[in-house]
Amino acid sequence: MAAGGFIFVLFILAFLCVNGNLVSQRSFSIDYNNNCFLKDGKTFQYISGSIHYSRIPRAYWRDRLLKMYMTGLNAIQVYVPWNFHESTQGVYNFTGDRDLVHFLDLANQTGLLVILRPGPYICAEWEMGGLPAWLLQKPNIILRSADTDYLQAVSNWLAILLPKVKPWLYVNGGNIITVQVENEYGSYFACDYNYMRHLRTLFRLFLGENTVLFTVDGNTDKEMTCGSLEGLYATVDFGTDTNVREAFKRQRRFEPKGPLVNSEFYTGWLDHWGDSHTTVSTDKVMRVLTEMLLMGANVNMYMFEGGTNFGYWNGADHDTRYRSVVTSYDYDAPLSEAGDPTEKLLAIREVIKMFRDIPSGSVPPATPKFGYGFVTLKKVGNISSVLNTISPLGPVKSQYPLTFEELKQYYGYMLYRTSLPRDLSEPTPLISPLNGVHDRAYVSVNGVYQGLLERDIALVINVTGKQGDTLDILVENMGRVNFGSKINDYKGILSNLILGKDVLTDWNIYPLNIDEAIAGGWPHSGSFKPKSPVKKEDLFGPTFYMGTLQSNGLTWDTFLKLHEWTKGQVWINGVNLGRYWPARGPQQTLYVPGPLISPTQINNITVLELEGAPTHLKVLFMDRPLLNATKS
Ligand SMILES: *[C@@H]1O[C@H](CO)[C@@H](O)[C@H](O)[C@H]1NC(C)=O
Ligand SMILES: *[C@@H]1O[C@H](CO)[C@@H](O)[C@H](O)[C@H]1NC(C)=O
Ligand SMILES: *[C@@H]1O[C@H](CO)[C@@H](O)[C@H](O)[C@H]1NC(C)=O
Ligand SMILES: *[C@@H]1O[C@H](CO)[C@@H](O)[C@H](O)[C@H]1NC(C)=O
Ligand SMILES: *[C@@H]1O[C@H](CO)[C@@H](O)[C@H](O)[C@H]1NC(C)=O
Ligand SMILES: *[C@@H]1O[C@H](CO)[C@@H](O)[C@H](O)[C@H]1NC(C)=O
Repeated sequence: MAAGGFIFVLFILAFLCVNGNLVSQRSFSIDYNNNCFLKDGKTFQYISGSIHYSRIPRAYWRDRLLKMYMTGLNAIQVYVPWNFHESTQGVYNFTGDRDLVHFLDLANQTGLLVILRPGPYICAEWEMGGLPAWLLQKPNIILRSADTDYLQAVSNWLAILLPKVKPWLYVNGGNIITVQVENEYGSYFACDYNYMRHLRTLFRLFLGENTVLFTVDGNTDKEMTCGSLEGLYATVDFGTDTNVREAFKRQRRFEPKGPLVNSEFYTGWLDHWGDSHTTVSTDKVMRVLTEMLLMGANVNMYMFEGGTNFGYWNGADHDTRYRSVVTSYDYDAPLSEAGDPTEKLLAIREVIKMFRDIPSGSVPPATPKFGYGFVTLKKVGNISSVLNTISPLGPVKSQYPLTFEELKQYYGYMLYRTSLPRDLSEPTPLISPLNGVHDRAYVSVNGVYQGLLERDIALVINVTGKQGDTLDILVENMGRVNFGSKINDYKGILSNLILGKDVLTDWNIYPLNIDEAIAGGWPHSGSFKPKSPVKKEDLFGPTFYMGTLQSNGLTWDTFLKLHEWTKGQVWINGVNLGRYWPARGPQQTLYVPGPLISPTQINNITVLELEGAPTHLKVLFMDRPLLNATKS
């Protein structure tokens, strides 16, 4: 080595040391002697709230974060949904509403620290718990285990994700103080320590030896045992109906020293279609929060701002039967779905005030809401009449039905078409003997709607028709199971259907890319003449409708009510607002964020109604939500 090179190396080393000293002034660690966190060498307690950037339009991120800061929180807790960023294997998206780094930056600018939860599994009542559905292309893959294909996919993903967040670690000048590994792993059947060890190795490799890594588990010995691992700080989660001292005693059994942490203190709860709306009382939240803070515990409120399951991102549970999560993720949280401060938020702020100085000034007010009124829609056409547009590649032929995953269309709707093998003059049962319709199937014969099949609920309907008539079965994926042992939740028609005595075969299966067509301007840019008025019999079965709204310069938030419509999906200006299902409830209105509304151009509303539209064909934009009306 030449002398010049040697001096250069010395210079670099000197620089590194100085730099090292600077960096060491920012530190975040666990103080096992004093049972607390240490930030820059000083005792630190967090009072945090969960917020999911994937459930809030980017334009509102700053507003929500500021409201959390002004409530007195010093941290937020954030999930990273893998499938939101890698919907197609190997194709990553970190822009627009998926711009995680921008979200971290806004939080940092607001003065909020971050507790990051990068999964890879997150639950979160999110489609498949955040796992990408393309993992299911390997039959019998054991998700969340040391299965080699699963581990390979996880390693690839974390090699993309973790280097992006590394500069945002607190010690590196960012705001991330702690990072969770997996999520509630102890409640999963696999209990595979090799998997958790593999994750620990990857997190250490990409984030360094000094980052505080932690786990979160439900408040039982079994969950804490399977979910915790040496080197990952074990924390618990529990809500208002739990004995706080007992729960922290359990955490102490797994972490005899270190801070007490409730990683998910439930301020509210989620809703499923068909169940009644869930709430958690403000008094209970205040009482239990006070109790935990008095003990010096670190608390994250789950959720602080729930937001919305836009598009197809809702998850589902499967305990005794499949139950899909509603579009709204309001969660009865302190900030409403639309980001408005509630009475619960103000009460929490009073509690926090007793424990720490909170920023002076008041919480920013609710953003304005507007009832734009009624819009009358027009019929565009049924699914089969628009197939060229929404299924441009045409059908895949197969003797037996194929799943969504086999056709690499993971979300939304797919059309299965065959013909009747014989005359059916009498009502003849069409049966899904193995309960293989995931999740709902809308059945027509030669354009006449016959009814539906529904997973776990309706496995047979009667059909009539003539030999050779077209049998159309539109199958809806209502969201993959996000929790428990049934997360390998394949979609479509999973097992053969039987019509009378015949096994149905010779299918034409149409993958449908409805979202791409609508984002491209269809049907509003189309040259067809929408029909109105229409006869009642034209309103049954899966059908598209469209309408327009002039907002006269306003871009205020609004709530869309589809009164007397049955079930379907809505888009505004090409953006998928989510599912509506007033016939089942409890959710009756869909949140329409103001930034989606154009103040000057005509706003385009597109509806896919699956079962039956009302003859009035009206939808209503109201100035308030209605989330709690279950129909029996
Ligand atoms: C990435 O996601 C953003 C936000 O949803 C979206 O606008 C954009 O079109 C996506 N990019 C690609 C290449 O799909
Ligand atoms: C985070 O905010 C602090 C305080 O405003 C600032 O000094 C720091 O540079 C920011 N970090 C990053 C990574 O932008
Ligand atoms: C769809 O609409 C077309 C054209 O209006 C009609 O001929 C056909 O019977 C309908 N098919 C279905 C499945 O509703
Ligand atoms: C199908 O039709 C048969 C004969 O009319 C009737 O007994 C049966 O209840 C019907 N089943 C359903 C599911 O509608
Ligand atoms: C609605 O559709 C029309 C026709 O394609 C288009 O000119 C207009 O820009 C669309 N409106 C918005 C807000 O995108
Ligand atoms: C539903 O919520 C509204 C608004 O919060 C409330 O006024 C109403 O009493 C609630 N209804 C039911 C049935 O709980």
